Amino acid sequence: MEIRALRKDVLNHKTDCLIIGRFEGREGTELVEDINKALGGVLSNAIKSGDFKGELNQIAMFYSAGNISAKRVLMVGLGKKKEFTLDKLRQASGTAMGALKQKRASSLSTTLPQSVNGIFSCEEAGQVIAEGSLLAQYDFSEHKTKKKEKPKPIKTLNLVMALRQKGIKELEKGAQKGARIAEAVSVARNLISQPANVATPSHLAAIAAERSKELGFKATVLEKKDMEKLKMGALLGVAQGSSEPPKFIVLEYFKGKKEAKPFVIVGKGVTFDSGGISIKPSPGMEEMKTDMSGGAAAIATVIAAASLKLPLNLVALIPATENLPGSKAYKPGDILTSMSGQTIEVLNTDAEGRLIMADALTYAERYEPEAVIDIATLTGACVVALGSHATGLLGNNEGLKKQLLKAGEETGERLWELPLWDSYKEQIKSDVADMKNIGGKEAGTITAAALLDKFATKYHWAHLDIAGTAWDSKGAPYSPKGAVGAGVRLLVRFLEDRLSD
Ligand code: BES
Ligand code: ZN
Ligand code: ZN
Repeated sequence: MEIRALRKDVLNHKTDCLIIGRFEGREGTELVEDINKALGGVLSNAIKSGDFKGELNQIAMFYSAGNISAKRVLMVGLGKKKEFTLDKLRQASGTAMGALKQKRASSLSTTLPQSVNGIFSCEEAGQVIAEGSLLAQYDFSEHKTKKKEKPKPIKTLNLVMALRQKGIKELEKGAQKGARIAEAVSVARNLISQPANVATPSHLAAIAAERSKELGFKATVLEKKDMEKLKMGALLGVAQGSSEPPKFIVLEYFKGKKEAKPFVIVGKGVTFDSGGISIKPSPGMEEMKTDMSGGAAAIATVIAAASLKLPLNLVALIPATENLPGSKAYKPGDILTSMSGQTIEVLNTDAEGRLIMADALTYAERYEPEAVIDIATLTGACVVALGSHATGLLGNNEGLKKQLLKAGEETGERLWELPLWDSYKEQIKSDVADMKNIGGKEAGTITAAALLDKFATKYHWAHLDIAGTAWDSKGAPYSPKGAVGAGVRLLVRFLEDRLSD
């Protein structure tokens, strides 16, 4: 879908559908009132009847009889004006696209608010309208062989500004930025949506390498023999049970000042988590193809940074492997020696994510990073604690956590902090090794982070547990049912905020 900003006489603008926003309350904007008048009052009738109140994401469709140039008018509720946010604008944009997906409309024009009483700029509005619209359009149907099951794609979306309004250049700039970010999120969603027989560690590496050439960042893939040389015993331990070769993907985007220390993103890349010898129950096991969502987010964040040409130094590390119970699989009771030299007693082979992340966190030391952020579908306990409403946040630096929380509010990808007190660290003490890989029934998200904490000792570090947010089984306005691409917009915003500090 192509997106552009235009300045037009809205009533005389030809389009398959004109999207308009309406806050709760009696009065609409000047534009909405003009359209209402031209259509003989149908919009106000919908409101007077009580059918349409303007609640967030409410919709009403009208068909014009030639009284304005648009074929249809889609009115979208924006909620209370006082409570309006950029994420609500993103949602309303997504809702509109969702409603038009199945219609015979290929060229759309949106007049959703481009500024509200100075709360946000035209550039920000353009960005979130583009993000919400494009992300709502996401569809993963490449494995369907019957074409008619695919919805007809929408070809163009015009962000229309009335002739008297200012800020068209900013609106266009924001829209193009939003389009690039949405494209990167879609890369993550595609990787996550693919079944595990397609999205193997080699596939992740191949896609990352392909995009690196196009966008000008460096992709290096470490093979099993390289991991052996580096003594990545924890990652290799997990990989043992599968005949699919593990890959350690290193992406380097160095477009910042020479002396600027890089940010490192570490993403969990378990392309299928059966649980290994501590095997998971069959119902729902298919969802474990999403256990590389952190890795996908790390790859997509570098893609976004390169595509937006952000002037910074950024590294992504993705330890990628399957977790299967093959005949060579690691077993409960095994003791693994990690790259750091610390030993880990394996008491449950399903707690594999923390093991592969541990070696990646040690590898990160060589960059002398500004900060390391890891992102992983790490614990079922996080789903229990926060559901799909927030990503779990833990870490060893207050400033870093604060900045991430802020980026979470700004992007609508909300985070919730859990404590990482020393008393929790007691739970992973082992009788026979330096630590054990599970900490008992209580506080599972925290004890998993407590293990990572033992490897993230040389830099500022934050951990994002996206087990509950990576996959949406219901669907939301700009996130159709399935892979969310969680963390990409958040991390891009965090990096941008750090640039402007
Ligand atoms: N990949 C899972 C965590 C997960 C659960 C992600 C649900 C997405 C949705 C992880 O590797 C795992 O299996 N964790 C175990 C740890 C336990 C054995 C201590 C868990 O959470 O049950
Ligand atoms: Zn597991
Ligand atoms: Zn896992």
